[in-house]
Amino acid sequence: MASFHVPLKRMVDDSYDIQIGRNLFDDLVSDLKKGLTPGATRYALITDSNVEKFYANGLMTKLDEAGFRTDLFVMPAGETHKTRETKISLEDQMLEAGFGRDSAVIALGGGVVSDLGGYLAGTFGRGIPFINYSTTLLSAADASVGGKTAVDTPHATNLIGLFNQPAKVYIDIECWQTLPVREIRSGLAETVKHACLAEKEFFLWLEENITKICSGEEALLDDEACEHIAYKNCEIKYTVVKKDEKESNLRQVLNLGHTAGRAFETLCGYTYTHGECVAIGMVVQIEIALEKGLVTQEERDRTIALLQKCGLPVSVPSGTSLEDLVVKMRTDKKARSGKIRFVIQDGIGAMKSFEGGSYSLPLDEDYILSILKKMA
Ligand SMILES: NC(=O)c1ccc[n+]([C@@H]2O[C@H](COP(=O)([O-])OP(=O)(O)OC[C@H]3O[C@@H](n4cnc5c(N)ncnc54)[C@H](O)[C@@H]3O)[C@@H](O)[C@H]2O)c1
Repeated sequence: MASFHVPLKRMVDDSYDIQIGRNLFDDLVSDLKKGLTPGATRYALITDSNVEKFYANGLMTKLDEAGFRTDLFVMPAGETHKTRETKISLEDQMLEAGFGRDSAVIALGGGVVSDLGGYLAGTFGRGIPFINYSTTLLSAADASVGGKTAVDTPHATNLIGLFNQPAKVYIDIECWQTLPVREIRSGLAETVKHACLAEKEFFLWLEENITKICSGEEALLDDEACEHIAYKNCEIKYTVVKKDEKESNLRQVLNLGHTAGRAFETLCGYTYTHGECVAIGMVVQIEIALEKGLVTQEERDRTIALLQKCGLPVSVPSGTSLEDLVVKMRTDKKARSGKIRFVIQDGIGAMKSFEGGSYSLPLDEDYILSILKKMA
């Protein structure tokens, strides 16, 4: 008998650029010409059935004109299609079209397309490069940056996936013009989350300026305000990600509002948008923070008022089984040894670090239920 040790230490440079601007197709083509995806000779442009109508032809034409061999793959729009089944279907279409390891993926769309497209790219041919071209405020605020890629299953959201960093992220603010107002609001929920977890000054700015982006039923999309939130969201997110890419501890803070939010998202069958669920989850965690003396009544009220100003829901909708909601929280990815964990604000603009330095706190299910009942 013999035994071998295989010394395989990994030195990885996963750095990438994020470009924020308007109408960035030419920049993408120019970057490809400069070798953004070394070794790629074919491109799979993956998008969804809504984004296709607005933007796919424009990008396909530019890529064609520049001589990049590109095929378009369209998945049905919506969270209910961010599944293993959709991934398999796209993979089969790509294989049938002759795609191999010398390919790259361009994910054109919101968080659903980038989560699924990035996961697909991470496993296709054991890994090919991918580019995120973000078309929603929510993916600009959160999903397009950070390298978390995944699909949902009937049991849980985003639990099957990979950490896989893109070659580059393009955040095209001009695309927000075609977004339904509900999707604008959804992106603002992640924006409020970032302010609450990282920067009081940004929170104050949002209190003053958020209506320039969306006021009630109307999306105003003031140029300067949009640029500011795109910049601030990226800055806050990548500052955390670069310190803890694989979420060993600090990165959990980006999950603010997500323990209850994601649980509600699956429980309601994705009838609420991701941002709406995050808004509800933000309120659950701030009620916990208030009960634990981590925020004042005024800080709690101002946070809820800001979410309301964006037109976001701030309570668990009536008719929701609170017991089922708690049970769903068990599938949250922060759960350890069957115990539900929350990340919680420490005032506005900071996060609480608990015993042992962990940013997440295990909580009893009865305690969570009592908070939910109090909210109801
Ligand atoms: N990976 C991460 O770190 C991370 C972070 C936050 C959220 N997410 C994921 O992101 C997803 C939510 O992202 P989303 O809100 O962008 O969802 P989405 O991709 O489903 O987009 C929302 C809707 O807007 C449409 N759309 C997209 N761009 C458009 C445009 N410019 N004009 C008109 N319509 C457009 C889409 O077809 C869809 O109907 C969820 O799956 C969530 O889990 C991931």
